Order: sequence, then structure tokens, then C-alpha cells
Amino acid sequence: MVFQGTLQSWANMEETQSFFETPFDFLVDGFKATSSSIFWFRLFKHEVTAISGSAARNVFFQERTLNLYEGFQVLIGTIPTDLDPHVLSGIYKRLNIIQKPESLASKVFSKHVTFRMIIRAVSSHDIAENDAMVSRLKYFYDIIDSPGKPMLGPLSWIPGFAMAQKLWASTSVYRIFNNAVHERKYAKIKRDDTLQQLLDARESWQCIVGFMMGLPIAGARSTGTIGSWVLIFLSYEEHWYLTVRKEVQALISMYEPTTTTTTESFSGESIFHSLSAIPLEGWESLTPQLDLCIRETLRRAQPHTAVRRNTGPELTIADYEIPSGAFVVYPFSDTLLNPATYPNPLKWDPARHSSTSQENFIGWGGGKHMCKGQRLAKLTMKLVVAYTLMRFDLAAVDGREVRAEPIPDWNDFLTCRPQEGCSINFSERRGWND
Ligand code: HEM
Repeated sequence: MVFQGTLQSWANMEETQSFFETPFDFLVDGFKATSSSIFWFRLFKHEVTAISGSAARNVFFQERTLNLYEGFQVLIGTIPTDLDPHVLSGIYKRLNIIQKPESLASKVFSKHVTFRMIIRAVSSHDIAENDAMVSRLKYFYDIIDSPGKPMLGPLSWIPGFAMAQKLWASTSVYRIFNNAVHERKYAKIKRDDTLQQLLDARESWQCIVGFMMGLPIAGARSTGTIGSWVLIFLSYEEHWYLTVRKEVQALISMYEPTTTTTTESFSGESIFHSLSAIPLEGWESLTPQLDLCIRETLRRAQPHTAVRRNTGPELTIADYEIPSGAFVVYPFSDTLLNPATYPNPLKWDPARHSSTSQENFIGWGGGKHMCKGQRLAKLTMKLVVAYTLMRFDLAAVDGREVRAEPIPDWNDFLTCRPQEGCSINFSERRGWND
């Protein structure tokens, strides 16, 4: 049954600006103000429907005509202009290949910064080894990834300064990767990296550059954000901190039984060495406690609002009609912070996942567009957390010792910084069993 035209609208043009500034509050306010689980608002010239509830969510995740790339490109504007969504099927095929065990284990572990780790895993050895180049890429990706608030009102047809900057940044990224492909192709030097695999597989130039440009956007920031939050929560929750450290120590002992017995053998280098001796299956099957912590952090500190555009004919969601060409948004908080599914939802409590059903967990997305890089992301985060816990003692601080659980700012949908400016104090450990 369709109730055409009865969908409630909310927010005037001024108020919709806050969709870009405080998206979490904007959507919560909209559902409250309309007393409805679905409402629509106008975002410059586009109609956007915000949905909630499990029935609407299921359609949202499963419906083939709801297109993620067109949604992002128009509403958020973070997809590089030269990346044609049609080459993405080639990209995903490759992403599956680089996440095969024999490939994944050798590529990921080098430096302890997630951005560099993701760049290494999805692009070229030469870029990942070049500090200045990695810093430049990080600088450009931060611009591409920043919220691009378009101009509203009579000037809405002008792209705006932020959009022009994004265009400049994505062109710069394009040039870096394009040169890397060019140099590799004509230098006749072979490397053991993803760029080489793509060239050897005779993928198109567009697919290769698109792969290297697009995946850091999909994965580098979220891996850094979730990885940092795992560390923040662990530095506050002593029980989990000790549990995970013990688990990592046991894993190291299993593969390098002599390492962890002497204080003399303890150094940053020896920790790297010990962690690299752990095979992929060890990381994937022998860290159940760390798995729970990552899962709970994906629930608690991921302020994602999924965006789609209806590229098919009119579509019915929760008895309402979504016109062709319209946008639909689904805030992950509707599920992840829902007390009916997760009692006391603001509490970071990894143990809850030992008992709750995993079926509807949307930390990695759902349905058709489920995250394609979760294996790489999990391994990257585990390496960072394991190294940090072995090398340092952590304490959450905000000028002094933090007494209340750190709160992720869900309005900061890109970096999800702690609300009270909390950070981590690292103090070097003196031995494996210190
Ligand atoms: C902790 C880190 C990560 C988190 C939390 C995460 C989360 C997600 C989520 C929630 C989605 C679905 C988005 C939606 O429905 O709107 C998604 C999609 C995707 N992710 Fe990730 N992701 C992470 C890391 C990565 C990495 C490292 C890569 C690859 C290098 C990656 C590649 C992708 C791709 C390609 C998609 C789109 C899938 C599709 O269109 O079918 N992600 N991710």
C-alpha cells in the first residue's frame, strides 16, 4: 500500500545546512519533530528521504536500484571525479585477490600507521616507501574526505570553494597514481605489490588508477578511526586492556616461544619481528577477545550515515514512495545505538557480542554493499593494537586521568573525535612481562 504525498517533510533551507555540520543531531531531530520513522527534506535541489526501522533498513540494503556511488558522489562528494563506478566490478575482483591469505600476510605489515598500511596494501611499494609521497597523499585525501558543504540558496549552482578544493585534491591524487603506473610500466622493474598484480593481470589503466585512488577513500580513514577508538576504549577499560594484551602475548609465545621470556630481547624492533612471525590464520582465529573489542568499537564509534540514490523507477519503502532519482539516507545509529538490540547502548561493552545474535550486525554495512575490505581492515587494526599494547602502557587522559568513559562524537562523521578532547598517554614498557 502506498500513501503517495503523505510523507512528512522537515527542516527549512537554513536548517538543512546542519545536515552537513551535525548530521547525527539533524536526523534525530527530524525523526522526533515528525514523530515518524521516515521523513523527507530538501537538500538544495534534491529530495532526500531519511528512513529508520528494520523493515525499511532491509529494503535499503537489499534493493539493487539504490545506488551507493551516485548517492555519495552527489550528496557527500567524496568520490574522485575520475573514478567511473562501472570499473568497480574489476576493482572488487582485485580486492578479493589481494585479501587472499598468501597475499594479505606479506603486504600489510610494515609500518604502524594505518594510512600507510592501507596505501601499501592497495597500491605500490615505491609510494608506500616514500615518506614525502605518503604525507602528500594523506594531505590530499584529508581534503577529499572533508565534509563538502555545498552553497545553498540562489548561489547553489556554484560548486563552492570546498568542492573546487576537492576537485584539485583528487586531480593531484590522480596524477600521483597515474605517474606510479606509468613509471612501473615503462621502467621494466618488477615488484611484489598490488600495482604489479594489476599490471600483470592486464587490467585496464582506468581500473588500476581507480583501484589505487578509490580504496584509500573507502578504507583508510575508517580503519584509522576505528583502530584509534579501540585503543582509546582499551586505555580506559583496564579489564579489556589486560585481557587483550594477554591474548597477544600468548599468540606471540605460540609462534616464537623463546622471545617473550627475556627482558633483554624487548624492543620496538623485536616486537615487530615477533608480530611478523604470526601467520594470518593466527590473527584471524586466535584473537577472539580482540575480535569482540573491534566489533563493539564498530558499533559504538561509527557515525556512518549510508547514502543511496534511487537509479530505478519509483520504489516503495515502508509504505512510502521514493521517486526515481531521489536520495535515501539511513543513519547507522538507528541499529547500532538501538536499546532494543543493544541494551545500555552508550556503554562500550565487548562482552555483549558473546551473547547477542550476530545476524543483524551492520558494523561492516549490510546486504549488497557490505564492506569489501573488512579482512584487510581487521588485520591492519589488529597489528596496530597488538604492537601498541606490547610496546606501551596506555592511559586515557584529558589533562588528567579520565574518569568517565570517552564519548565518540557522532556528529563528527568523518573522524568521530572524542567529545571531551580525551587522548591517550603512552609510556614505554621495559619488558615483555612488565
Ligand atoms: C574499520 C575499517 C572499515 C570500516 C568500519 C568499513 C565500513 C564499511 C561500511 C559500513 C560499508 C558500507 C557502506 C554503506 O552501506 O553505505 C563499507 C563499504 C565498503 N568498504 Fe569498507 N570499511 C572499512 C575498511 C575498508 C577497507 C580497508 C577497504 C579497502 C581497502 C574497504 C573497502 C570498502 C568498499 C570497496 C566498500 C563498498 C562496497 C560496495 O560498494 O559494495 N573498507 N565499508
